[in-house]
Amino acid sequence: MQLTIEEEDILAGKRGPVLRKAMEILYRLGEIYGADRMVPVNSVHMPGASTVVAGEAGTRYVEDTAANGGTFAAYTTLNPAATDLDCWQRLGSDDATAAGQRRLTSAYERMGAITCHTCTPYLCGHIPRLGEHIAWGESSAIAFANSMLGARTSREGGPSALASALTGKAPAYGMHLTENRRGQVLVKVRCPLPAVADYGRVGYLVGQVCNERIPVFEGIPANATLDQMKSLGAALASSGSIALFHAVGVTPEAPTTAAAFGGLAPQETMEISQSDLARATVALTKAETEPLSLVAIGCPHASITEIGEIARLLAGRHLHPNMHLWVMTAQPTRALAERMGYTAAIEQAGGEMVCDTCAVLAAMDPIKARYGYQSVVTNSAKLAHYAPGQCGLASYFGDLEQCLRAAVTAIWG
Ligand code: F3S
Repeated sequence: MQLTIEEEDILAGKRGPVLRKAMEILYRLGEIYGADRMVPVNSVHMPGASTVVAGEAGTRYVEDTAANGGTFAAYTTLNPAATDLDCWQRLGSDDATAAGQRRLTSAYERMGAITCHTCTPYLCGHIPRLGEHIAWGESSAIAFANSMLGARTSREGGPSALASALTGKAPAYGMHLTENRRGQVLVKVRCPLPAVADYGRVGYLVGQVCNERIPVFEGIPANATLDQMKSLGAALASSGSIALFHAVGVTPEAPTTAAAFGGLAPQETMEISQSDLARATVALTKAETEPLSLVAIGCPHASITEIGEIARLLAGRHLHPNMHLWVMTAQPTRALAERMGYTAAIEQAGGEMVCDTCAVLAAMDPIKARYGYQSVVTNSAKLAHYAPGQCGLASYFGDLEQCLRAAVTAIWG
């Protein structure tokens, strides 16, 4: 790799051991993936911000980095935590989870992180520009940043994102390079997609076929909403490992199909029809007879539009006594939801706003032990996909209206 004089100095330890170690991590990654240089990054989104992911070893590593003078050179936001830092007792978390998470969050904060603990940092003002090199973790956020914003990030893990936050650098490989951002699989969408969950259905099916290849969608309407597109990206990145997708006439690097493919021919073409959406619903409902108890909406974290829709659909209704409803969102969005009266409407119906965390990244064992959750009802393809394996919860997947009906009736159907 060709390093600048500044990067050479850091690698030689002239700026201290914390930066030397960080640069070593980035340099080794660059060598493994064939990068020829570093690129400057001023935007980092940190995965591994939950103690469920970081564990005790990761928490100590972050604490040691902060104690040894680590200071972030890049604007850095945090992915969801292991619990809601304000309402962890109500959520059912135990003391150990809350204490461990506070240690990890405050270590990141000491180094300069914004402690928003969300997977939708772009809804909280962290919005990199078209073509900007960034270092983001969290698969759904990576897909959104690369695809919808046209920023350029590899799929960063905790150590590499931390190293980039400290140094303000990332090795130039993968999605940082124009030649790696060309589409590979053409996806023709042949049916209307009215619901947010429909975009999850499409993403789930296409992710399975593409795996790591870049899909180019034709037939996604130009007025698709932000909520629909974040659902698409999250699903693509969960059934597959997709870091970038193009939607012709929607995403910034796909003004035309030919531009999205960079002038090359697609490796494969697939079509999505109404019957495929039904197939995805069946595949994402990984439950048999498990009783309903928890409805979780907001994966990725809910926008103010989605929260308003939930409040509207719950008006005049009340949750079944056996049911809990989590509306998972970021702190700034909850503050706005309070001002708009949405929080009051959701709480009057018996639901709760859950911030900082989510069903996948929370420490779920104490919560399940307290409330006896065996399943989760959701309109998120990503959550439905991960719930059985990562949360130990059977999943019921459907549109938002169906999920809220289940919250009110405790019946799936
Ligand atoms: Fe976000 Fe958790 Fe879903 S991190 S995308 S709410 S699994």
